[in-house]
Amino acid sequence: MEAPTKNKKLLAWVEEVRAMCKPDKVYWCDGSKEEYDRLMQEMVDAGAAIPLKKRPNSFLFRSDPTDVARVEDRTYIASPTQDEAGPTNNWTEPVALKETMKGLYDGCMQGRTMYVIPFSMGPVGSPISKNAIEISDSAYVVVNQDIMTRVGTAVLENIGEDGEFIPCLHTVGAPLQPGEKDVPWPCAPIEKKYISHFPQDNLIWSFGSGYGGNALLGKKCLALRLASAIARREGWMAEHMLILRLTSPEGKRYHIAAAFPSACGKTNLAMLQPTIDGWKCECIGDDIAWMKIRPDGRLHAINPEAGFFGVAPGTSYSSNPMAMETIKENSIFTNCVLTDDGDIWWEDMEMPCDHGIDWKGREWTPESGEKGAHPNARFTTPASQCPVICPDWENPDGVPIDIFVFGGRRTKVMPLVHEAYDWDHGVFMGGTAASEPTAAALDVKGLRRDPMAMKPFCGYNVADYFQHWFNMGDKLGDKAPRIFYVNWFRKNDDGKWLWPGFGENARVLKWMCERVDGKVKGVETPLGRMPAAEELDLSGLKIDKADVDELLRVDTDALKAELDDLDSYMASFGEGRVPERMMKQVAEYKKRIGA
Ligand code: GTP
Ligand code: SPV
Ligand code: MN
Repeated sequence: MEAPTKNKKLLAWVEEVRAMCKPDKVYWCDGSKEEYDRLMQEMVDAGAAIPLKKRPNSFLFRSDPTDVARVEDRTYIASPTQDEAGPTNNWTEPVALKETMKGLYDGCMQGRTMYVIPFSMGPVGSPISKNAIEISDSAYVVVNQDIMTRVGTAVLENIGEDGEFIPCLHTVGAPLQPGEKDVPWPCAPIEKKYISHFPQDNLIWSFGSGYGGNALLGKKCLALRLASAIARREGWMAEHMLILRLTSPEGKRYHIAAAFPSACGKTNLAMLQPTIDGWKCECIGDDIAWMKIRPDGRLHAINPEAGFFGVAPGTSYSSNPMAMETIKENSIFTNCVLTDDGDIWWEDMEMPCDHGIDWKGREWTPESGEKGAHPNARFTTPASQCPVICPDWENPDGVPIDIFVFGGRRTKVMPLVHEAYDWDHGVFMGGTAASEPTAAALDVKGLRRDPMAMKPFCGYNVADYFQHWFNMGDKLGDKAPRIFYVNWFRKNDDGKWLWPGFGENARVLKWMCERVDGKVKGVETPLGRMPAAEELDLSGLKIDKADVDELLRVDTDALKAELDDLDSYMASFGEGRVPERMMKQVAEYKKRIGA
């Protein structure tokens, strides 16, 4: 196939990869519907994809049982020095890593097609967008990238004859011997998987996994790990944040960007259906925000993605009706149950399913004693299909952010909501955020500090990331977004949720908007400013007064018990490495809780 570009750098890179990986053929993707349909049909014919009778143009895939989530232990930041990567990242020396990986890449695409996928993060040609090329030997990656990013010839045209692009190399790492039959989900064993980033070269090398953030390289690898390093150099922000627009009954708009760790509620909040009268919510993005200070002095956010790669289990018409509407057609499902009538199903979908085929391909009934869908089963679906997608979701100028929200999954201790006293305090709140493990990453155990929900995604030393946040606050001055912290996940001693969550979370967002407008004062607590009991709009909600009191209680004894962990977290960056301004916040916090 003749290359549809004259860009010498691109042609040279594709040739270099071809010579190393030795595919049977090279195919340049044009991003057309015809191409999508053809590749999907090939996968159906090969037994890798199952067409869903109940959903037009939708397909189910089952991954290898060992390839179901991001692998943080096998994810590397290969900067020249370990200090540049910092203690939250797996660092490895870039020259040696490249040698190891070149050994693995040698002949790795044998028997397969090498797809060259030109894609743009952000609208093609926008000044905030980035052009990139993913090379992959996975047709599953091609069709997912088609939904998640803007793929096609327009990107090649935009790159032009001598334009820049970010090279992203991916392989499933499973060469085929002549005559060998392929498996439905080829991948390499865990010890051969590498998700490697070279921030100084703007380069991504991924080997051995076909799943999500390991393989769709525009998402976590480019839009967060590389982009966070670029954003620091260039003075903007790349964050693990959803973006939404909330409109009050008076018609006032508020733009909110919220950072929660993986599988902690971003997609749900992004498509929120407020339960309080007159409030309206529209979705701009559900996972990643790129934000720049625009000429009005405010921080504007764009969603660099074009689709949602959402957690399936728990998604239902009561928890997230807008996601359910979005995935009615043109969607890809991975590791869900296949029902007997040719639809997909998962736990807490609130639809009946008495019998089906589970994510491992076995007969399944509710009595099977195992989950039918993998807890990290996902849907891939076009953002444009979301009924509440914001008319400005592709506005190249983005939307001006009023409110930042941090949070995590804490069944104990952390109250429902509190507000930072100022920017620096907000950076402390986000920077010390902690969360309990979820199924979104394979190798996470125990409570962990997840600064700004970026622990697995910050492409450089988090101590420097803190400083970058302080610098951004200085530049924004009184135009900086207000900062809040939430916890939707408190449970009582019987293991029951204390807060109903989902659409009811609008009540908490409303309080934030009223704080921005100075309509409510809140009460000062050692953690931050919290709603006075009567300030939280609970009209029409059935909730025990005792539960509300518990949700708004600050337990200083429990907070004191976590100070050792806070100290060792700060110490993990090394003597004197954490910015002074952060250490000042630590000291003030200790004073406030009476330590
Ligand atoms: P990633 O795509 O991994 O970044 O995840 P995410 O942050 O978008 O998480 P998502 O919205 O998909 O939610 C993950 C899980 O949390 C699902 O099982 C949801 O049902 C559950 N969840 C989301 N919001 C709430 C809430 O307000 N309350 C409770 N109890 N659960 C929630
Ligand atoms: C996450 O884990 O935060 C995700 C899913 O959004 S993945 O694309 O696999 O990273
Ligand atoms: Mn995510």
